[in-house]
Amino acid sequence: MSAASQNLPAQARRADALSGTVRVPGDKSISHRALMLAAIATGTSKISGLLEGADVLATMRAMQALGAHIEQDENADWQVTGVGPMGLSAPNAPLDFGNAGTGVRLVMGLVAGAAIGARFIGDASLSTRPMERILQPLRAMGAQAQATNGCLPVTIEPAALIPAVITPDIASAQVKSAILLAALGIAGTTIVREKIATRGHSETMLRLMGADIRVQEKDGYSEVSLHNENGPTKLKATDLHVPGDPSSAAFPLVAALTVPGSDVVLENIMLNRQRDGLIRVLRAMGGDIAVTNQRQASGEIMADLRVQYGPLKAVNVAPETAPDMIDEFPALAIAAAAAEGTSHMAGLAELRVKESDRLAAMQAGLKANGVQVQAGDDWLRVTGGPIAGGASVKTHHDHRIAMAFLCLGLIAEQPVTVDDRTMIATSFPQFFDLMRDLGAHID
Ligand code: S3P
Repeated sequence: MSAASQNLPAQARRADALSGTVRVPGDKSISHRALMLAAIATGTSKISGLLEGADVLATMRAMQALGAHIEQDENADWQVTGVGPMGLSAPNAPLDFGNAGTGVRLVMGLVAGAAIGARFIGDASLSTRPMERILQPLRAMGAQAQATNGCLPVTIEPAALIPAVITPDIASAQVKSAILLAALGIAGTTIVREKIATRGHSETMLRLMGADIRVQEKDGYSEVSLHNENGPTKLKATDLHVPGDPSSAAFPLVAALTVPGSDVVLENIMLNRQRDGLIRVLRAMGGDIAVTNQRQASGEIMADLRVQYGPLKAVNVAPETAPDMIDEFPALAIAAAAAEGTSHMAGLAELRVKESDRLAAMQAGLKANGVQVQAGDDWLRVTGGPIAGGASVKTHHDHRIAMAFLCLGLIAEQPVTVDDRTMIATSFPQFFDLMRDLGAHID
């Protein structure tokens, strides 16, 4: 069945003040990594707070197909019994990742590093996304891998890898992580050099589970090195707690800042220098975001955010900031539409190859709803002011486009409709309930 035949629209109307204390689900990046690393550790790890969204469940099924034992316990935590170093076994059917870009790309690294073969497939949207960015570095390490016109289906054949020093030409945590996961199987030292450091969740979790992984600034690069002097890395089973996803929190956060009178607390949100770009930018716009109750969760920082409505002013986002908020531009564009003045966001080329061409989708959706907007190859300019609304937005099956435009509907004069809400379940299955609990009018 095609995704298009299952479309379910949704509509958001102008809201009164939002209020309440809520928790968003677990972080998607950390949830994928927790399942993968626990699956190759020795022993049983307990994962609490796992995001049970469609993307992460696809990774879970893949890790089971590769040999890990994963089950939910009576407390709704996940018990993952790993296969140990080089213990993954070739699956007997293609691994279907649905819409999960992080899942498919990182597991390609794991499979190559385990010197086994597998075929990787996904849904229509994932099948148009670039995979050579992963396969090229893996080939440089000795992997035998073929894509289909640069995309899925991808086939990896069993091959022994060798250590390498790799300098990716795009800032991508997925590329860095795939290399590091492949390197877990190789004796020697593998190095990834990044011009702009991307999210370091793989490094943090690997260190927590016993890998010898180091990060240093060298010659203007952030250099991550994984050392395996005595053969494949042995990860020890570890209980992992997944903090709340700042990329999901972005939507109630922007809604609270833009709906007059709002006062909302978002609990347990992960704070991480490579993920908090949106908070920094919203504060520069005048956003009232207070951080309280900071604590640790499996090597990451977690805190509560109190967010209060207030007038926002336009902002310029520099290209260097983009990787720190790469998934948050749909949410920021809504804040910019509510701000006074013209905001400019640069360094956005990667948005063209996310779950949809997000630059095009944002431009079209804002324009249809009466917002002044311009876009170039890698930039977006949004002028704030009264928002007419009243239009239906094409989401192109992109969860973050759908959530962003439902937030626009909360502050527009006329209701805003999105053509499909089903994809929201990939990252934020509780989105509708949580927004309604805060007082939003979303049908
Ligand atoms: C992710 C990295 C980002 C992000 C994606 C999750 C990760 O992609 O957009 O949603 O978990 O490593 P890139 O690193 O390719 O920019």
